[in-house]
Amino acid sequence: MAGFGTPRPPRAIDVSRRSVLQGAVAVGVLGYGGRADVMPSAAIAVEQVSQVSKPMTPYIGTAVSRIDGHAKVTGAAKYAAEYNVPGLVHAFVVTSTVAKGRIAAFDAGEALKVKGVIDVLTHKNRPSMADNDKAYKDDVAPEGSPFRPLFDDKIKFNGQPIAVVLADEWEIARFAASLVRVDYEEEAHVTDLYRQREAAFALPEPAKPRGDAAKAFAAAAMRHQGEYYVPIEHHNPMELFASTVIWDGDGKLTIYDKTQGVQNVHRYVCSVFDMKPDDVRIMSPYVGGAFGSGLRPQYQVVLAVLAARALQRSVRLVLTRQQMYALGYRPGMIQRIDLGAKADGTLDSIAHDAITVTSQYEDFHRHETTWSGLLYKSANAKYMHKLARLDLPTSCDMRGPSATTGVYALESAMDELAVVLKLDPLELRLRCYSDRDQNNGEVPFSSKNLRECYRQGAEAFGWNKRNPEPRSMRDGSELVGWGMATGIWEALQVPIAVRVMLTANGHAEVASATSDIGTGTYTIMAQVAAEMLGLPLDNVSIKLGDSSLPQSPLEGGSWIAASVSNGIVTTCNAIREELLGLAKKVPNSPLANASPDQVALVDGKLTSRQDASRAISIADLMRHGAVDRITREETTSFANDGNHAHNTHSALFAEVKVDEQLGVIRVTRIVSAVAAGRILNTKTAHSQVMGGVVWGIGTALLEETLIDHKFGRIMNANIAEYHVPVNADVHDIKVIFVDEPDNTINPLGVKGLGEIGLVGVAAAIANAVYHATGKRVRDLPITLDKLQS
Ligand code: MOS
Repeated sequence: MAGFGTPRPPRAIDVSRRSVLQGAVAVGVLGYGGRADVMPSAAIAVEQVSQVSKPMTPYIGTAVSRIDGHAKVTGAAKYAAEYNVPGLVHAFVVTSTVAKGRIAAFDAGEALKVKGVIDVLTHKNRPSMADNDKAYKDDVAPEGSPFRPLFDDKIKFNGQPIAVVLADEWEIARFAASLVRVDYEEEAHVTDLYRQREAAFALPEPAKPRGDAAKAFAAAAMRHQGEYYVPIEHHNPMELFASTVIWDGDGKLTIYDKTQGVQNVHRYVCSVFDMKPDDVRIMSPYVGGAFGSGLRPQYQVVLAVLAARALQRSVRLVLTRQQMYALGYRPGMIQRIDLGAKADGTLDSIAHDAITVTSQYEDFHRHETTWSGLLYKSANAKYMHKLARLDLPTSCDMRGPSATTGVYALESAMDELAVVLKLDPLELRLRCYSDRDQNNGEVPFSSKNLRECYRQGAEAFGWNKRNPEPRSMRDGSELVGWGMATGIWEALQVPIAVRVMLTANGHAEVASATSDIGTGTYTIMAQVAAEMLGLPLDNVSIKLGDSSLPQSPLEGGSWIAASVSNGIVTTCNAIREELLGLAKKVPNSPLANASPDQVALVDGKLTSRQDASRAISIADLMRHGAVDRITREETTSFANDGNHAHNTHSALFAEVKVDEQLGVIRVTRIVSAVAAGRILNTKTAHSQVMGGVVWGIGTALLEETLIDHKFGRIMNANIAEYHVPVNADVHDIKVIFVDEPDNTINPLGVKGLGEIGLVGVAAAIANAVYHATGKRVRDLPITLDKLQS
């Protein structure tokens, strides 16, 4: 477990229904009441009630279009800030303009005079909220003391929320917020990683060292040492962070929130406000991207609930794009890599150190360094990770956390070692190929078809036509560079509960409190259920993003597709068994002697696998059994026997063209060959990986959060000046999925794809830039000015 590790169990608030998820590693243990919907539910409606007659199609592994696509492109899909009720109050946040100190005084007098303003909440007049750290620890909170918005007069970072203006209209709230006067007592702050470098403190060893890396490095025939810098980056999802809190009367709340985990937010709100689980329901049926920024509950939900409780009214709070830059970020970091090798290109030693950024109050970190000794074979390996405290919000997960950055450094260093060795960079990777997880007892991988990624990727790219000499390839006035890199991510799985209701007329509703953060979860859930139940896809509806549904961990770490798809298999198996029980009671039943694994649901019928003529329709079975529906809820957990490592892999090949006079870099071609077990949906999977590659172009060439250290303030807190790739930056992207059967990891052999698409891309591009120009840039992003000196 190099990146996320196993998520830790959340706190129990109410253990009365603990049995819902037994033996769980990463589960909620809350029970939820069955309050009636007050707003449209998260279900994707199935309009027509058709009989099952169409021929059966296998759905798993096909290119089914998103079942929520129509709702999204027509605007029918509603996001957290789009739920309206009469009398809705609009909230606007006032943020700190200093990075550290305390609030000496507020003057809200002018703001309160504005017509339409209802109130201004500060730490002085807000309703009560919990006063201990534990209450603010969400399921994925790091060590430390979580941030509490509007709790007291302390300022911990620039952009910190310090007051909330409540008004009849959003524009009025925004205007009045500009009138709130604040006096600060400022203290000296530091926001520059390089200034805190020496003060960084060491974390416990990220993984057990092996051999003696320093000695082996000193004795190595060939060596490379390098220091690599990655700046702070921000997530910038399309949807703004927002919460609409519906006051249901009697203190009960329905909260539409932008989040990757409705039940995480549910537990958090209940504990911060000491509310009963049945009195709070969190809804997030659609999420306009989050990329890790929605894993932890964000402060807007706290402020919106505070306001709703203060006024006993419904409240909406939407953050501005600028305010979202104070929510969390990919930690900036300095990495050092030492590689020692034999002249033949096999590695003797790997040492990987990282210093990453966190806040003054929490110790967020992942394991940047341990990917190195996992990915490549080396008898000697050593890792060190330090944290540097800055007066910023706590850093957090961002797509492929730790691997995106750690593998960037590793794969840049491997490219540099290949230059030292005068060896083709792909050949170097093959010579260092590891069939075992050396960080964890040398266990084999449940499956690892990285070799085939290298082979198919290189072939599709035309890698064998590469002239190894830098600056040797040209296209008119442009230098052409070809670079490659490897990607790796974890194939994690989490315990999950899934409820399926099958009706006599051949419809199914599948429910779990997971999220679809834009990855295609709705669609793969419907595919798996349709195939398992032998129904047309249109006859399956999906409910998710509702805290009252069966328990699911948040959507992150690329673990939901594998978890929920196998969870659906478990529950559908239970349904099939129940149908078989009914079948056995039918007089002269053709399935009288069949066992559960001898029957399948095909085309609306329970059918013998051996003899398709032995079949009874679902409708007939339910009629005989005098039921109109069967509902089952089952929990699936994934035992790890410790005998296998579970990872996904990729091989990246990049072509850049660099204008020799101007230094302008274009990424003209990328081939990404991915091995990620069984692919549930070739279309959504392709989109995931393509999106990752596009993001990788940003990581390599564009993305960077710039801080004015004098004020400790982000200077480019907007998507005009925080650069991300646009259409003109994206050219030819080819995605290949190599075959990777996995009979060990889970019944479907699924691994998950949300993050692997990004890992390795930045290094492949950086290596291509070196090959084009002969200039090695070791700090991201590679902007044209860095090519000049
Ligand atoms: Mo992902 S960084 O777990 O949303």
